[in-house]
Amino acid sequence: MAAEQMPQKELVRDDDDVEVAGPGSDGEHDAPAVEELDEETRARRDAALARVRKLGDPVLRASAVAVDRFDDSLRSEIERMGALMSDALGVGLAATQVGILHRVLVYRAYADDPITAMVNPVIEWRSEELESAEEGCLSIPGVHVEVERPARIRARALDALGEEILVEAEGLQARVIQHEVDHLDGILILDRISREARREAMRSLREARDGVTPEAPRARAVASETSPV
Ligand code: NI
Repeated sequence: MAAEQMPQKELVRDDDDVEVAGPGSDGEHDAPAVEELDEETRARRDAALARVRKLGDPVLRASAVAVDRFDDSLRSEIERMGALMSDALGVGLAATQVGILHRVLVYRAYADDPITAMVNPVIEWRSEELESAEEGCLSIPGVHVEVERPARIRARALDALGEEILVEAEGLQARVIQHEVDHLDGILILDRISREARREAMRSLREARDGVTPEAPRARAVASETSPV
């Protein structure tokens, strides 16, 4: 999922019009809070989120298999994934997150970009320079953790038609692609952090679950959802 984010300041600026609030959306920066979404957007988001597999679902731990047929069914699968990601206000989505064991991911790191689909993606180069930034995941709602990853990558993949694409990415885009490729290998952000950070993340996950009721503490649960992928 996006969380794929750049350092906090840039992240907030870049995510401005994705309407996803960060944990610090208390006036510290400008991103509109999720609480401020209009009813229709929120309902669409909730419906989309309900279709994303959540932590605990074994499919999230499975390794996806390479795609070898570039047909209409693949293209409609990619189209549905893009729509679901947009509706969920995420910046990336891997096929495993919707229960499909195909090596397919979609992402849109910045609101003005078109959605990019990568089939059979391979990260063929990673910078030695690492960058740490907060990530969320559509499959682990309410949890945000600092994840350290290579700052820049070069990835090869095929597009929906089977044509080769080469993506050189940095910042949020590099982070999203790495997060989604992890999903295709059954790896989650919780695997990329320290034991202590994981323990804390699980605690906030439990709190978010317990706290989400129709009336009250929804704010607490959504307030920490930043650009989930
Ligand atoms: Ni994710």
